[in-house]
Amino acid sequence: MSYQTLLFDVTDGIAHVTINRPDKLNALNDQVMAELGQAADRIAAEASIRGVILTGAGPKAFVAGADIADLAKQGPFDGKARALRGQAVLRRLETCGKPVVAAINGFALGGGCELALACHIRIASENAKFGQPEVKLGIAPGYGGTQRLPRLVGKGRALQLILTGEMIDAAEAYRIGLVNKVVPAADLAAESEKLLRGILATSPLAVRLALEAVERGLDMSLDEGLLLEANHFGLLAATADMKEGLTAFLEKRAAKFTGC
Ligand code: COA
Repeated sequence: MSYQTLLFDVTDGIAHVTINRPDKLNALNDQVMAELGQAADRIAAEASIRGVILTGAGPKAFVAGADIADLAKQGPFDGKARALRGQAVLRRLETCGKPVVAAINGFALGGGCELALACHIRIASENAKFGQPEVKLGIAPGYGGTQRLPRLVGKGRALQLILTGEMIDAAEAYRIGLVNKVVPAADLAAESEKLLRGILATSPLAVRLALEAVERGLDMSLDEGLLLEANHFGLLAATADMKEGLTAFLEKRAAKFTGC
């Protein structure tokens, strides 16, 4: 499968996905969104892909938002259709069953911030900048920002970002819990891979079910979420991975997980 707007490379179990429109600060036009959807499906389907690092091409931007040239042409019905399509693409990535790390190498604005929010873990370079500037353009977030941002950083902080449209730097993003870690730009790729490799060294089945319990559980009542968690706990008790993990601990040796 070849892409026009993405770089997609699988090395040793990790899919490195790079949004590749550096001359437009990796803005999400319709083609990028369609290709991101195809990439999410491939990630979900290919057993050899165990985790994902998503980043933007060039030194300046992760993604500077939805492509404003595309938005400028839309009317109410295609605007709604674009938002629903984009939301579905980000949801496919979020629910692909594999851990997705956003390596945020510069501007993450509008749809770029929303894309980062749909990833499971966010590592930012020191020069990264975050914002939901849509209101300054006469629009509002359309790719999940009004829903995921308050869930991540709380309603008050989310509303401040969404209503003012102002940008914050990486240190402030870390302070409010928008990103998990801030690292020097030169270390971003290595730190992102190190973190993901740490996850991939654990049981893939346990990771998958923990991801699912958190992602799905957030939309459930507490009792429903707790039942989902207990079901997963029981399901994992039927796996070789659980037997290996617990036995390895008791035998004081490193576990070797097979994903079975
Ligand atoms: N959509 C389409 N094109 C975009 C874009 C976007 N969201 N963001 C940047 N670009 C394009 C610029 O138009 C410019 O293209 P050109 O060279 O053909 O004129 C190129 O990317 C470089 O951007 P530029 O604005 O020259 O860089 P800068 O360093 O001066 O400013 C930003 C960087 C991020 C502050 C500025 O590009 C910006 O405000 N972008 C829009 C951010 C936004 O509102 N996103 C939400 C959209 S819903």
